Amino acid sequence: MEFDNLLYDVKDGIATITINRPEALNALNSDTTSELAKLFDIIASDDNVLGAILIGAGGKAFVAGADIKELSTKDPVSGREFVLAGQEALNKIENLPKPVIAAVNGFALGGGCELAMACHLRVAAAHAKFGQPEVGLGLIPGYGGTQRLPRLVGKGRALELLLGGGIINAAEAFRIGLVNAVVETYKKDETGKEITNEKGRKVFDRDDFLSNIQEMLKGILTKAPIALGYVIEAVNRGLETDLSSGLKLEADLFGQLYTTEDVHEGMNAYLEKRRAEFRGK
Ligand code: CAA
Repeated sequence: MEFDNLLYDVKDGIATITINRPEALNALNSDTTSELAKLFDIIASDDNVLGAILIGAGGKAFVAGADIKELSTKDPVSGREFVLAGQEALNKIENLPKPVIAAVNGFALGGGCELAMACHLRVAAAHAKFGQPEVGLGLIPGYGGTQRLPRLVGKGRALELLLGGGIINAAEAFRIGLVNAVVETYKKDETGKEITNEKGRKVFDRDDFLSNIQEMLKGILTKAPIALGYVIEAVNRGLETDLSSGLKLEADLFGQLYTTEDVHEGMNAYLEKRRAEFRGK
């Protein structure tokens, strides 16, 4: 499958999507969000894909925001349409009933932070940076930042980032609950010693970073696929409703799982003290 702004690869049930505009620090223009929307429709209906990882091309940025060059050409109508199209793409990621992890390998600013927040989990490289700097451009976030950030980190911390427009590092993002984990990994020579570049800085090991995240996702994918999808649905829909409606939804989905083969396999495997072999049926 060929895209102009994305690289796409599927191996062992895991799709890896690379936002591939390194010359613009992987900024999201409308072509890129439209390709993301198309790709996530494909992923949703492809039984060979059980989970996905999103990463940015190069080692410097995950995504440095919506494309400011394109944004500078917008007016009230086209500006609104631009963000509605981006929101639609990110909603497809958030509502995909298969786990999606953002592998935040550098700057995740504005639309990049918003893209990471639409994923189910976020793992940051130690040099990653997060922020919603839109107010410095005279804008507000448009790909869900005013909505998903307070849901993830609470209203006070979200307003601090949204109003201040400041940039935080990976350790701070972990401390406030914006990311699930931070992975520190640097390239080594054959003796196991960390390599440094001409500026004396350690060199980020992108392949090792990605393989750490693949291992994390593989662990999740040993569980029952339909149950994983229902967890995502229950959490997403539950956060949009009152507690009693959320609990009813949970009970409905719980009951529904008894129509699957996997629920019987899961409980039989437990009782027979063996590993479950789930088939997603
Ligand atoms: N849009 C378009 N191009 C971008 C971009 C963006 N968001 N971010 C970086 N680039 C481009 C730069 O213009 C530059 O291109 P040229 O070489 O053609 O000038 C190239 O990427 C490399 O960037 P820098 O030279 O700026 O790299 P740096 O290391 O000096 O700085 C940075 C890195 C701090 C991330 C800086 O690029 C930056 O501040 N980028 C903009 C971040 C931002 O404001 N994001 C929010 C966008 S608005 C938004 O996202 C709205 C929304 O919610 C939908």
